[in-house]
Amino acid sequence: MDKKITEKQIQWYPGHMFKSFREIKEKLKLMDLVIILLDARLPMSSMNPDILKIVKHKPILILYNKMDLADSNILKDQIIYFEEQGFQGLKIDAQSQINTNKIHEKAQSILQEKLERNKSKGLLERPIRTMILGIPNVGKSTLINALSGKKATKTGNKPGVTKAQQWIKIGSNFELLDTPGVLWPKFDDKKVGYHLAITGAIKDNIIPIDDVCHYALMFLKEYYPMRLLDKYSVPLDMYDYVEMLNQIGKQRGALLKGAEIDYDRVYHIILTDIRNKALGGLSFDRN
Ligand code: G4P
Repeated sequence: MDKKITEKQIQWYPGHMFKSFREIKEKLKLMDLVIILLDARLPMSSMNPDILKIVKHKPILILYNKMDLADSNILKDQIIYFEEQGFQGLKIDAQSQINTNKIHEKAQSILQEKLERNKSKGLLERPIRTMILGIPNVGKSTLINALSGKKATKTGNKPGVTKAQQWIKIGSNFELLDTPGVLWPKFDDKKVGYHLAITGAIKDNIIPIDDVCHYALMFLKEYYPMRLLDKYSVPLDMYDYVEMLNQIGKQRGALLKGAEIDYDRVYHIILTDIRNKALGGLSFDRN
């Protein structure tokens, strides 16, 4: 069993992503500020460097979404790291609407100079125009819904309704553009691919699930060994991948007829537990 993912497997770029980049470039001219939505568990891996290249001349607000699923200590350091690179940010939980009410204030503080300049020129105050960018599944729709107070934003999915981007008014001082997500075009660092696969940002069939679980278990063993002990009774001195799978399989009753381990079920258990916070808050990127 080859545990290494190949370059071919990770260098892929769906055609519609080119279109999405082009559309974003066009819309940028209208924006006062760009919101980049990152996954708080993997802020570096969920940051698309190509996006940074095209938005870098715009004021940027970084939102670290899914803070509820991240390791809060690691996240704190990573927010500081990004601040040191000049990016102001805010950790949020779009699903439970934690900190979402602070987004406008943060945007205003980033744009303070420009807003004051406009005021001194006698320009009329108008809503801050912004757009949310992020990789698929990072929580863009959830955030837009939370901000707009609506149940659904994906009106474009209905037959006969255009998929054109549209402005969503948030109170009287914010206007948000609903944009398509942009996925990592290619990840040179294989770790990034694994991080995206573990958290479900890329579909489970892009990288073989056995490889993903191998990476995940070894990562947990290195950084969160006590969680493996508590959750699956994986002994602290157990380092062998297959032994760990066997232990988890036995402990969770993932067995085939004849008491053989059902590895497919074990993979599913591990990934579901990670994604559902059954192993506690986890952070995958380390700087
Ligand atoms: P996208 O538009 O960027 O593609 O992402 P979307 O909003 O569809 O969110 C993807 C999944 O992430 C959804 O879960 C959503 O509920 C979840 N999510 C979004 N923000 C947060 C957050 O801050 N914390 C947590 N824990 N989850 C969040 P789903 O399983 O696909 O659907 P659902 O049935 O849970 O809604």
